[in-house]
Amino acid sequence: MTTAILSALPEEQSSLVQHLAHPQRLMHAGRAFWLGDLHGRRVVLALSGIGKVAAATTATALIERFGVARIVFTGVAGGVGDGVQVGDVVVAQDYLQHDMDASPLFPRWEVPGYARSRLVCDVALSALLLGAATACVSSASGQFGLKSSAQGGSEAPLHRAHHGLIASGDRFVSSADECVRLRTTLHDAGHDVLAVEMEGAAVAQVCHDYGIPFAAARTISDRADDTAHVDFPLFVQTVASRYAEHMVLAFLQKLSN
Ligand code: ADE
Repeated sequence: MTTAILSALPEEQSSLVQHLAHPQRLMHAGRAFWLGDLHGRRVVLALSGIGKVAAATTATALIERFGVARIVFTGVAGGVGDGVQVGDVVVAQDYLQHDMDASPLFPRWEVPGYARSRLVCDVALSALLLGAATACVSSASGQFGLKSSAQGGSEAPLHRAHHGLIASGDRFVSSADECVRLRTTLHDAGHDVLAVEMEGAAVAQVCHDYGIPFAAARTISDRADDTAHVDFPLFVQTVASRYAEHMVLAFLQKLSN
């Protein structure tokens, strides 16, 4: 059984490539795919690309060309939920496209043809990933250059792993106004969003179409507010790839097949 590890960031992928046994690089659909073994498990490493269409193409290639049995996605996201702070991890319970709007033909956020707005991630895979994320954030205290914003960095940092709804859309959310509007509109419709990013819901939809188990973990790089564009690149360089590496390796160790 081959497991696809889909990374949002080149930094994440390259740290995993270094751990590959018997690495083989293949080009397909203008993308590089790395095949090999990680912790004795057959894997394909791929980059999602940025945005929903790029991610859907990569996910489809993983399934059609490489025959993967499951897809696990890591990347970063903007924290929008209460208490979802930079350095925390959100493991997706389900996904919604915050920019999907075919109203009045379909209810706002509903994916036409699917009769729902939220696509659920695989329960068993997500539980494994949440375990790996929880272990990662607790051992991350004092590591990876992370400091607790709540404690001014003077005490042991406290980071959390959350489990809940993530919203994807083809926008980098980078103003407090937009973030509050997005969060409040969704909240009023019964959707409590913990984080925003730009790809996961597309991969969830492709996996739903093919009946492939899917799970995703996103490290919070910014608060999707007025400083998001500054916080994001800094975080990617210093922390995100090491988080992803730890989570993926811990996750693969726990996989039973
Ligand atoms: N990925 C990381 N931060 C994000 C943000 N603020 N908006 C969309 N995607 C993101």
